Amino acid sequence: MTLPPLSLYVHFPWCVAKCPYCDFNSHALHGELPETLYIDAVERDIASQSAQVGARPIVSVFLGGGTPSLFSAEGIARVLSAARRHLHIAADAEVTLEANPGTVERGRFAEYRCAGVNRVSLGGQSFDARQLKALGRIHSPFETERAAAELHAAGLGNFNIDLMYALPGQDAAAALRDIEQALALAPAHLSHYQLTIEAGTAFAAHPPALPSDDGAELILETCQRRLATAQFERYEVSAYARAGFKCQHNLNYWTFGDYLGVGAGAHGKISLGNEHGITRTVHWREPRRYMSASPLPQTCAKVAARDVPFEFMLNALRLVDGFEIDLFEARTGEPWHTVADAVDQLVRRGLIEANGKRCRATAHGFSFLNDVLVAFLPESAAATEVPAMSTAS
Ligand SMILES: C[S@@+](CC[C@H](N)C(=O)[O-])C[C@H]1O[C@@H](n2cnc3c(N)ncnc32)[C@H](O)[C@@H]1O
Ligand code: SF4
Repeated sequence: MTLPPLSLYVHFPWCVAKCPYCDFNSHALHGELPETLYIDAVERDIASQSAQVGARPIVSVFLGGGTPSLFSAEGIARVLSAARRHLHIAADAEVTLEANPGTVERGRFAEYRCAGVNRVSLGGQSFDARQLKALGRIHSPFETERAAAELHAAGLGNFNIDLMYALPGQDAAAALRDIEQALALAPAHLSHYQLTIEAGTAFAAHPPALPSDDGAELILETCQRRLATAQFERYEVSAYARAGFKCQHNLNYWTFGDYLGVGAGAHGKISLGNEHGITRTVHWREPRRYMSASPLPQTCAKVAARDVPFEFMLNALRLVDGFEIDLFEARTGEPWHTVADAVDQLVRRGLIEANGKRCRATAHGFSFLNDVLVAFLPESAAATEVPAMSTAS
């Protein structure tokens, strides 16, 4: 089994305020940001995890959150230089930093670029001031526009804007206005997420009135059509890119690549070769605990062989073009016949198309992806629900 490409994810767990819809490992910052202590811990973490990947090249780095843009450019430079010291970061690696438009001071993007960042993901969410308020965002539409202008000026034209749709009271015309305003900022990539109510969030306790399923479907179709005319190709459930600007880091997740997970609550996935299988690592979620714990992950567990095909499908079927059958065998170490019956049944139900070389969800299957995935659950787990698909990492 050839080892898959390897990425690095570094988590930054603080935000100015907790948004009511968000179930990411993000904590409202009370008092001063413990930047130095946190980055000390991240450096120890990178150093201690480097042994398990040896000289494997790192093809992409994602600095995610939380809100990494709360950290200074010096802090981000320290993280990236620790990564370069202990790991083999490819010369052409994509290095993305997530930024909240409410946290970026003037000139900050140029400094991040000097630190080694070459792609930015901006959390815009909407350009409607009332929606931003209802979503608990700390910024105005104007701040997102200013951040985009600064990105262009800093030579960081390769940026993404996160938008959410099916917002409280939103109709297709309002969602389309958000798309138009995002396009006017000339991003290279758009992530368009349907607002979901996640357990344990403020929205779950006090749910806002959301558009109906049909309303959400109409919004999606309307926005998708507009994005297609603007030459943004939908290549994954929620991801749209101009030619040449697909997110390499997320593509590595969706093609079941490997990643080191560094930082509070970060998850990692490392393949060890055929007979050794795949391990998953998870760090302490709580930032203080992470900073004071051993740099080794809290848990490091082997994925049961019977779960691997499902995990592959959970990722790869999110891609509009699906995947090559050879990739399934290379990444999972399992022969195609372990899933062939399930695939045949889904083909008969019109949910999947497969031609002996490639496999992908049909347009119908793409709208009911959870139903498709259930077919790949190992027998004992088939009665349980498919885990919610995360929007970002
Ligand atoms: C980790 S956050 C991004 C960066 C930054 N913290 C920010 O919010 O500006 C990743 C993205 O996931 C999306 N997201 C988070 N919770 C969501 C939810 N419940 N439903 C849909 N999208 C969600 C948002 O678009 C958000 O920008
Ligand atoms: S959506 Fe972003 S800014 Fe809001 S709480 Fe989550 S991680 Fe923080």
